[in-house]
Amino acid sequence: MTDLSVRAGASPRCRATLALALVIAMGAFPAWAQDTTTKHATLYDRLGGKTVLTRLVSDLIDHSTQDPRTRRSFQKVDLKRLKQKVEEQLCSLTGGPCKYTGDDMKQSHAGLNITEAEFYGFVEELIDMLDRYNIGTREKNQLLAILAPMKRDIVTR
Ligand code: HEM
Repeated sequence: MTDLSVRAGASPRCRATLALALVIAMGAFPAWAQDTTTKHATLYDRLGGKTVLTRLVSDLIDHSTQDPRTRRSFQKVDLKRLKQKVEEQLCSLTGGPCKYTGDDMKQSHAGLNITEAEFYGFVEELIDMLDRYNIGTREKNQLLAILAPMKRDIVTR
């Protein structure tokens, strides 16, 4: 008989004691208990789901259209559509319930002549926005790691 089957066959009193011990242990280590639940949540959920993503993307794009580091590219762009596509893309890439229906990064940025400085300017604006929304360091780094490889398709100058 394995150790597990011994426990499964334990008396109700013994099982109750084990369950209680577990509850006490989780109460004694709330951070640890919380970590086991967040470990399995998607990045999308940990960012705050749709409520946060919609507002964050909207604010980021509004900011990018004003900031001297990036505003050049956003003249004459349908911002409503852009916001929808970026939100959809980030939702899909972070494990949310969305399918990205926009163009790929090479196609959509072709002809915009985006420089490396503009790309990093945009990334800084994104980091500022993530801070404004109190996104944790782990989530921030995970999101940036997902976006970083796109640089080669976006920067063309
Ligand atoms: C990792 C960084 C970036 C991501 C994830 C991203 C994502 C996107 C997405 C999803 C679209 C919509 C594609 C479509 O129309 O179907 C788009 C379009 C666009 N992006 Fe980016 N982008 C990034 C960096 C940048 C940077 C650095 C700039 C400029 C400084 C920029 C300027 C634009 C503009 C102007 C459009 C609209 C193009 C048009 O509608 O003609 N993007 N981007």
